[in-house]
Amino acid sequence: MIKNLPPMGWNTWNTFAQNIQEELILDSAKALVSSGLKDAGYEYVVIDDCWALKERGADGRLTPDPQKFPHGMKYLADRIHEMGLKFGMYSCCGTMTCAGYPASFDREFLDAETFAGWGIDFLKYDYCFKPAGAEGALLYRRMGLALASCGRDILFSGCSWGADKTPEWIGTTGANMWRSTGDIFDTWESVKSLIQQQYSILPFGGKDCFNDMDMLIVGMNGKGHVGIKGCSQEEYRLHFAAWCLFGSPLMIGCDIRNMDEETKRILTNPALLAIDQDARCNRPYIIRFCGNDDYPIIVRNLADGDLAVGFFNLSDSPADLWVTEADLGISFRQNKILEGTEVYSGRKLRSVNATLSASLAPHTCEVYRMKIVNL
Ligand code: GLA
Repeated sequence: MIKNLPPMGWNTWNTFAQNIQEELILDSAKALVSSGLKDAGYEYVVIDDCWALKERGADGRLTPDPQKFPHGMKYLADRIHEMGLKFGMYSCCGTMTCAGYPASFDREFLDAETFAGWGIDFLKYDYCFKPAGAEGALLYRRMGLALASCGRDILFSGCSWGADKTPEWIGTTGANMWRSTGDIFDTWESVKSLIQQQYSILPFGGKDCFNDMDMLIVGMNGKGHVGIKGCSQEEYRLHFAAWCLFGSPLMIGCDIRNMDEETKRILTNPALLAIDQDARCNRPYIIRFCGNDDYPIIVRNLADGDLAVGFFNLSDSPADLWVTEADLGISFRQNKILEGTEVYSGRKLRSVNATLSASLAPHTCEVYRMKIVNL
């Protein structure tokens, strides 16, 4: 059964793009297990674009490139399953994938059947090369139906970048998650822009069809396909905290075979993972901007009555952010206040004059798990 929580795993694209092959996938799957990432909840190993031959086979089916995948996909799926992991692949609703390989337009049922036969558990479905006049909603519904009737439980990961009013129709397609933005790059500007693009679409997140803010860049340090210039550790910490607070799927994009300790610490932060994977999957909300949209305070009410409260300074200058407990629904007059712990530092926070505040350096955040306690 597919868990009804934001999916977690590793995807080839951010670092490797077209440079993928069997050994890399198996070594990365092993690293997922040996590094403890699997125990932390990362379970999907996903091969993104560029795995197929440029032409379909004589039987009309997609064919794995034998140079890259000499034993085929069923073999890979079996090895990955033996490690207790799940296996994901990629296609696209147009005539070609974004990198120009054959895609599933008008072959949805055949391809879903092929994927099921290989034993895949997850399909990322892109949005390039849609024929003129073909509606995204219809093409996604078609693949949704093909997957639902293929005889295997396959998680449907929509990737239409929020285009063509995706949030209005994605929930009708059977998708379990949906990409809400264009592609991430390993830069501060990209992280900031992806966070700010969420503000207007928060009502469309949450359970059943999770808003996917794109794959993580934590640990890329400027290397690999979307590596561009890299981010500071503080910026990676903020990036990961935002994705967890928003309840995004968490698909790692760095080379996990060579992760440093700090990368692992960020990706396995237990307090943040507990927020991301909170059983209730309530939607996040912005309680206030402290000035302008560079200073959001983002909140998520959790299953056990705790509140995750994130103070973010996306600007280039230091900033003080604050919110009152009353605005968060905590009633001082009913003898309730909030007490909390910061997810990375363990720092404690209590209200002063019924107000919670944080002083933040540029490009940093503090995220607290706050408990409601008696005064
Ligand atoms: C699009 C997607 C990316 C990646 C590439 C592959 O750009 O948004 O996540 O899958 O295609 O070509």
